[in-house]
Amino acid sequence: MKLRWFTTSMLVGLSLMAAAHAQTDPLTPTGKWTAHQTGQAQTPPMGWNSFNAFRIEVSEDKVMGAAEALVDTGLAKLGYVYVNIDDGWWLKRRQTDGRLEIRTSIFPSAAIKGKDTSFKPFTDRLHRMGLKAGIYSEIGRNACSQAWDLKSPNLPEGTVAEREVGLEGHVDQDLKLFFTDWGFDYIKIDACGVADYTANAKVITTPGYRVREPLIARDRPALDKAEDLKAMYVEVADSLRKYNPDNDYVLSICSWGRADVRTWGKDVGNLWRTSYDINPTWGSMLHSFDSAVTRPLYAGPGRWNDPDMLFVGKGDFDVNHLTEAKSHFALWAMLNAPLLIGYDLRGAPKDLIDIWGNADLVAVNQDKGGHQAVLAYRSNDVQILVKTLSNGKKAVALFNRSEAAKTVSLTARDLKFDAAKPIGLRNLWSKETLPAFTGSQRFTLGAHETLVFEAEGTHRLGQGTYLSEIPGRINVAADGIPFPEGDPHIYQATRASAGRGGDTPMYAGWGGAQADASPYGTELTVGEKAFAYGIGVLSGSRMEVQANGEYRRFVASVGVDAATRNRKAAVTFQIYGDGRLLTESKPVTYGDAAADLTADVSGVRVVELIVRANKDAAVATAWGDARFEK
Ligand code: GAL
Repeated sequence: MKLRWFTTSMLVGLSLMAAAHAQTDPLTPTGKWTAHQTGQAQTPPMGWNSFNAFRIEVSEDKVMGAAEALVDTGLAKLGYVYVNIDDGWWLKRRQTDGRLEIRTSIFPSAAIKGKDTSFKPFTDRLHRMGLKAGIYSEIGRNACSQAWDLKSPNLPEGTVAEREVGLEGHVDQDLKLFFTDWGFDYIKIDACGVADYTANAKVITTPGYRVREPLIARDRPALDKAEDLKAMYVEVADSLRKYNPDNDYVLSICSWGRADVRTWGKDVGNLWRTSYDINPTWGSMLHSFDSAVTRPLYAGPGRWNDPDMLFVGKGDFDVNHLTEAKSHFALWAMLNAPLLIGYDLRGAPKDLIDIWGNADLVAVNQDKGGHQAVLAYRSNDVQILVKTLSNGKKAVALFNRSEAAKTVSLTARDLKFDAAKPIGLRNLWSKETLPAFTGSQRFTLGAHETLVFEAEGTHRLGQGTYLSEIPGRINVAADGIPFPEGDPHIYQATRASAGRGGDTPMYAGWGGAQADASPYGTELTVGEKAFAYGIGVLSGSRMEVQANGEYRRFVASVGVDAATRNRKAAVTFQIYGDGRLLTESKPVTYGDAAADLTADVSGVRVVELIVRANKDAAVATAWGDARFEK
């Protein structure tokens, strides 16, 4: 009797444990699409933000000036509708009830009758103009300006507690204020409060703020506390849903590529910064660009990599450097980056308006498929990016990063077009249509020039689609990275503010899933065979793919990739359809030839691609030529 009781309770215990494991094991197929889906960001947000134009010296005049210019120039009609206030708006946190107060000396319309201040008159005005309004806050207790702009006239004032204007400890209260009471539609949430207020920091020892244990360890990224930071943003995301039953909001996570946000951002917010702040230099633009360009599989409708706001109009991208300005803009369009203008729009020259106002490039960025461009060709000098458009065509950018003219061939293979059939190109800057070519076509790019075309041709698969052409329909639910490592391929620009050159790799995600490349950026190779196309991903991974019942078969050649660091462990590839195992490979190890897998996916909505290793081993693997056929 006693024994039986023991056995039963043990079995119950074990099955509870198994259930818990199934819930937490990231490789368990869900049969569902699990990426974050709320908020208004089916296409990348577009608009204006005060920071690159004015840093902390924001004011109502400046912001309304930008808003009026967006309407008057026609940019608003093109989609530039978010008018976002950045750091600098706050005065203090009132101690009687914790309510935030606005600095009315710079936002006069916020001085309403009574004891409170309110942004409602301001957001009402923007809404009446057909625009949307964005606010800025901080995930910790103290803001970035309080650590980095100590001479700004717009720093919060008062006691230590009054100057704690960030969300920590006030998430619900502040989000209700911003969205329900003040009527904002967008929020950017920074993270200096959990990075810069460490015990020995100057801001602590001199002006006097409360010490906050860092979750982002500025110079030692390996010490970042990703789970803790993620939990703070999850709390915000939950609260936003609560105070926005109409779903009219955007959550922008600003932890500068740190604390592994390039991996989890898509599960929590609508956009997440992939790097530190851009500044108006060519090297900084390269750095920001690189932080997003290898991450197309992590973005898609509702969730976007954010290489930071545009610096078109300033420094290396000013009116005297239109080649650079146009490159910067075209690249952001191809990356599906948010298009947030960072320029004083009151009296902007026509040459700049024409850049932001290039309707063809805006359409590329806003294409409803949401497929971020994929690198078709990589070198240190020239890169070719190809982006799938929902009209069956491709956008292609030929980008010369270098200081000298370069000649490069664009090939049918880059475009995944049939090399024997004619390919047509339309230049999206000059609007000129080029004579059709077959096979390949040579171009000479000036220093820093980006040529960008809409390309039309015959797909080499006929009716099929390579998975690497539809990254917006892929959710990397688990990418198998065993511990976060900084991506070493990101251009390390000299940062004048740091007083020294470069940075060590800061942005975790090295080894993540890649389109048409191994997880380490090399050509996909299994055994003796190289694959121009496919998905490279570590073992311990699960990808969800929206098939939406549109395809008949899924086909791939799978195996361990030559780039693997682990040459011993065996891996198994599994294909699930709506939660049901469709087919799986035998265990394979490094050196084995690619194994062909085919699955019938007729009627299947979500295909899941899982790679398991027999140990806790991170094995680089390839889903070579992974494709759907009709
Ligand atoms: C930085 C952020 C910038 C800007 C600034 C304001 O951390 O990355 O985009 O918001 O803070 O102080």
